[in-house]
Amino acid sequence: MRQHVNPLSQFFQLPLSLPSKNVLFRNPHYPIHLDIGSAKGEFLIELATKCPEWNFVGLEIREPLVSLSEKKRKKLELKNLKFLFCNVNVSLEEWLSGLDYGQLKRVSIQFPDPWFKRKHFKRRVLNKNLINSIAKSMSNDGEIFIQSDILKLIEYMTDTIDKNIYFNRKNIGDFRFIDKNPYNVNTDRELFSLKKNLPIYRSMYIRNGLSFIN
Ligand SMILES: C[S@@+](CC[C@H](N)C(=O)[O-])C[C@H]1O[C@@H](n2cnc3c(N)ncnc32)[C@H](O)[C@@H]1O
Repeated sequence: MRQHVNPLSQFFQLPLSLPSKNVLFRNPHYPIHLDIGSAKGEFLIELATKCPEWNFVGLEIREPLVSLSEKKRKKLELKNLKFLFCNVNVSLEEWLSGLDYGQLKRVSIQFPDPWFKRKHFKRRVLNKNLINSIAKSMSNDGEIFIQSDILKLIEYMTDTIDKNIYFNRKNIGDFRFIDKNPYNVNTDRELFSLKKNLPIYRSMYIRNGLSFIN
C-alpha cells in the first residue's frame, strides 16, 4: 500500500459530497468526535466500543485504509462509527454544515504526515482554513486534540492553532504540552512511538465563546 498521496493533486482536489449524519448513524443527534487521518481505524473502533453515546467519524485520504477500517467496523456491528474517504481540506467544511448546532464536540489530529520539505508544507493537513472550518461548526467548549512525535511539526501545529482567535490552549503557562492522551486509547502511531521510546508531544485546544465571523 502506498505510504503517501499528494493531497494537492488534481484527483484529491475534487470535492466529494459526504453522506449526511442521518444516514451514517443509528442515533444521528449524538455528539460527534471527528478523527482526521484515521488510517487503519483502530483508535476509533476502540473508542466507539467504549462510548456508545457518542458518534465517531474517521476521515482518511487513502481509500484502501477506509475500506479496511469499514470492514472491521461492520464485523463489530458498530452503528455509532463510520469511516469516510475524502481529502478533509476539500470536503470537510460542507459536511460539517449539515450537523446540528453544537454537535461537533471533539476533533483529533494525531501524528499527521509531516511533509518535512518546506516546499511541501502546503500539503500538511492542519492549516489555517481547516482550523477555521472546525471553529465555525464546533460547540463552545468543544476540543481539538493534537499529537505528534516530531517537535518541529507539533510546533507548526500549535503555532497555527494559537493564531486562531476561536481556540484557547488548555495547557497554558509554561506547559506547552500535556503528558497524557485524554482518551486513554492509543493510535497505531502512538503505540509505535511508545514502544520505541520516542517523545510524544500533545496539546489540547478548547473552543471559546466568540461567535464565528465569516
Ligand atoms: C501518519 S498517519 C497517522 C495515522 C493515525 N492518526 C495514527 O496516529 O496512527 C496520517 C494519516 O493521515 C492521512 N491524511 C493525510 N492527509 C490527509 C487529508 N488531507 N485528508 C484525510 N486524511 C489525510 C494519511 O493518509 C494517513 O493515513
